[in-house]
Amino acid sequence: MEVIESAAVPAGTEPGDWLQATVCEAVKLTSDTLLLRLRSAAEDPLPGHEPGAHVALQCGDGVVRHYSLTGSRQHAGLYELGIKLASDSQGGSRWVFDNAAIGSQWLISRPRNHFPLVSGAGRFLFLSGGIGMTPIISMLYELKSRGVRARWVHMCRAREDLGFQDWLSELAAFHDVHVHFDADGGLYDLATELAGTDAQTVVYCCGPAGMMDVVRLYGEASGRAGNFHFEYFAAPQLERDEAQDEEFSVVQASTGRTIPVPKTKTMLAALRDAGIAMKSECEYGVCGWCAVGVLEGTPAHFDSYLTSAEKAANKLVLPCVSRCSSARITLDI
Ligand code: FES
Repeated sequence: MEVIESAAVPAGTEPGDWLQATVCEAVKLTSDTLLLRLRSAAEDPLPGHEPGAHVALQCGDGVVRHYSLTGSRQHAGLYELGIKLASDSQGGSRWVFDNAAIGSQWLISRPRNHFPLVSGAGRFLFLSGGIGMTPIISMLYELKSRGVRARWVHMCRAREDLGFQDWLSELAAFHDVHVHFDADGGLYDLATELAGTDAQTVVYCCGPAGMMDVVRLYGEASGRAGNFHFEYFAAPQLERDEAQDEEFSVVQASTGRTIPVPKTKTMLAALRDAGIAMKSECEYGVCGWCAVGVLEGTPAHFDSYLTSAEKAANKLVLPCVSRCSSARITLDI
């Protein structure tokens, strides 16, 4: 699954983080979905990873895309990626499809994980749509290996779009798996599915924006947002009040320095331009990688990572997308 897109190498990725990998297998699963297997181009195996992790991939001309690692992780040192060709691809999945010949050398990042599987949880409900099944597959294999049975609802447009059928059958022999095809009867009734969960259920969701919104709103309305986990594969479309795009200043708590943030720049960019090292990855407000503490001032939150309660508490801000509704904000940097 393509997690999130950025137009350039993420600033949090150091040159030493990049690994050279070789495409050792490319299997066409549907008309627009490839399963790719990568191994290290060097002697060392590729680093291990946890279920839910993803890697960044350099797709030529400075374009970087992020893809979930999938599969059962039974082959140490080998990465499996499921990639769907986006109809409007600007170079990410299109580049992958054009460069998937066996033996091709790709540059990938070390795995990162902001969609980890919670250990010791009660019940699990996994909801996926389309290519969003890829990180969920890894999680379900992991739970199967622990002997923990989960419910998985996968939503797909039509039968011919369903990829990873071998894995799906294998997982369905252990887990409670339901595959829904929109073409057979319209959209899946997510509200009823969610109404069947309880306070102990941990929900993982990965799919199109509309589906994610329904699940997120349910989590918040039920007061259980902390048990709901999301992996985005596109920047969510959030309503934005342009009045909050005003200029403001950031005070760097460690030095007392004041950095102006003009209307035309993100807080993250202004801090970096001022020479302050800041971590980031998606730069769309979904991964939480750039989060910093707020010591004074009122953030204007535009991210999809913090819960409503965290946003109301104003203790953290994601400077890649969020701004400030007061004239200045003091950050713990
Ligand atoms: S870099 Fe991902 S939320 Fe800011």
